[in-house]
Amino acid sequence: MKTTVRLDDSIAEVLIEADVLQDRVKELGARLSVLYKDSVPILVGVLKGAAPFLVDLMRAMPIPLQVEFMAVSSYGRNTQHSGVVRILMDLVVGIEGRDVLIVEDIVDTGLTLDYLRSYLENQNPRSLRIVALLDKVEARRVAVPLDYVGFQIPNEFVVGYGLDLAEQYRNLPYIGILKALAVAEALRS
Ligand code: IMP
Repeated sequence: MKTTVRLDDSIAEVLIEADVLQDRVKELGARLSVLYKDSVPILVGVLKGAAPFLVDLMRAMPIPLQVEFMAVSSYGRNTQHSGVVRILMDLVVGIEGRDVLIVEDIVDTGLTLDYLRSYLENQNPRSLRIVALLDKVEARRVAVPLDYVGFQIPNEFVVGYGLDLAEQYRNLPYIGILKALAVAEALRS
């Protein structure tokens, strides 16, 4: 008989509970709605990790807005940053003269956002801001100006609410730290 694998069993510690996440995203949405009340901002979600955050954030922003996506290379099947950032999927709309908000799941070394920021800045938006759900301050290798942050977290590898290890665990509704055994298994599979 096949035993059911539960994702929760792989989690050593829940760092941010689902309801705490939801409350904070609503707060951020309310603040951003005031900030962008006179324009139609473009929210640029960074795939795949920022997808749940972007979806919840836009539903907490009852103002006219536009949603677009980009995809950039991440760690691949590893927990360390390779130091190289590549665009896997570009924007399909122009952003010149527009108010742009980059919506990112987590800032670790800062390399991804540093690259993305200058890439989008070169397209002459009217304004360019960043909202990141999680900020691992201690892990930073390049300084990135973050306009809004959901939570500062310790320098630990986390999964859930969009964040993955080897493409797994994105569907957890909370942010958690994996058991060492689960990390080894995910990297082996
Ligand atoms: P950075 O370029 O080092 O700042 O990393 C940014 C990207 O790395 C994020 O958008 C995530 O995709 C990934 N990342 C960084 N830290 C974690 C983590 O703890 N868990 C899962 N993915 C992470």
